[in-house]
Amino acid sequence: MNTVWVRSSRGRYPIFVGHGLLAKSGVLLTASGLKGKVMIVTQKPVARFHLAAVLKSFRRKGIRSQIHFLSEGEKAKSEKELFRLLHALVKYSFERHDTVFALGGGVVGDLAGFAAAAYLRGISFVNAGTTLLAQVDSSIGGKTGINLREGKNLVGAFYPPNLVISDIGSLSTLPDREFRASLAEAVKYGIIRVPQLFDMFEKKSGSILARNRKLLTLLVTACARIKARVVSRDEREIKGERMILNYGHTFAHAFEQALRYKTLLHGEAVAIGMVCAAELAVLLGLLSPLEAQRQRQLLERLHLPVSLRGFHLRVRDVLFAMMRDKKKRGGALRFVLPVRMGRVVIREAIPIPLIRRVIFSAGGRS
Ligand SMILES: NC(=O)c1ccc[n+]([C@@H]2O[C@H](COP(=O)([O-])OP(=O)(O)OC[C@H]3O[C@@H](n4cnc5c(N)ncnc54)[C@H](O)[C@@H]3O)[C@@H](O)[C@H]2O)c1
Ligand SMILES: [Zn+2]
Repeated sequence: MNTVWVRSSRGRYPIFVGHGLLAKSGVLLTASGLKGKVMIVTQKPVARFHLAAVLKSFRRKGIRSQIHFLSEGEKAKSEKELFRLLHALVKYSFERHDTVFALGGGVVGDLAGFAAAAYLRGISFVNAGTTLLAQVDSSIGGKTGINLREGKNLVGAFYPPNLVISDIGSLSTLPDREFRASLAEAVKYGIIRVPQLFDMFEKKSGSILARNRKLLTLLVTACARIKARVVSRDEREIKGERMILNYGHTFAHAFEQALRYKTLLHGEAVAIGMVCAAELAVLLGLLSPLEAQRQRQLLERLHLPVSLRGFHLRVRDVLFAMMRDKKKRGGALRFVLPVRMGRVVIREAIPIPLIRRVIFSAGGRS
């Protein structure tokens, strides 16, 4: 088992990465000083494979637990589901020293974390992410929240967990497309911070796609380390350091919005977004075309989309979504741009015609 520590406003917390860790949940909670009962928050597709191991480990340690099922899909991150969980916590008399335990992907973690932050102004929270995205990204850093009708992640809180459990074994039951899409976020870490991670991807893409246990442990640990370091220094995205995690995301969010969150999974949008950001960096003379090519080839080898062809997206719709996003965030249109493997810079005030050109050459329609 590997342990990565994160510094946060609520004290430091460990991320445990290893195979078969869900079956040790009870031991890990007890060893981390968590007492009291546990509300396991999950979704049916996850529970089907992984709930039994957690329950068994709690029973062995004499930990009492309740199970709360959220509805399925992203729509679970809603006001209705949040309040349904809060009422369940009241119903079962959860108190300050009790724990909310998220067992699932980013959807479960975001909602359960927000409920833990809000209930009694904060009770203990454990994030056991069962998707690759949760393990390399959403379970680390304390961002929690829900969606409103008006937009995604509009309501939330920074609420760091007491501990994170990343069981590599849980990734074996993930649907192929979900797994591959999340690899884009892992590739992102290589490009923004650790060139060796990118090299590993290039050399071992076949074994990674085959979900080799050892490689996945290495990969998740490496990504967790990078994200942990970044959020430890800039928990609330004030200094701008956390901003580098948004590599590829200015484009990706616009693609997702313009497609109304239907056609593309988030990681797939990030893959195309990274190709666009690299292209923009080449046009600005920041990155060599060869490096951009390397990134694109790796994404292709991981069977990720690298262009907008076939998605019937118009350039102006993407630009419109980008501007709306910028307005909502109240800031400038910012791009994280690679200068070489492992190093990125943040740029604002990029001429619109240049952005338009990039989206067009990525397959956006005129
Ligand atoms: N808090 C953050 O910092 C942060 C960062 C990135 C993304 N997010 C959020 O994360 C969410 C996306 O998370 P996600 O990609 O994990 O998707 P998800 O939580 O929707 O999970 C994807 C699907 O896989 C199922 N599933 C989960 N684990 C499984 C397993 N081990 N085996 C089989 N099926 C399994 C889920 O039930 C779901 O149907 C979005 O809402 C996004 O906003 C949050
Ligand atoms: Zn992302």
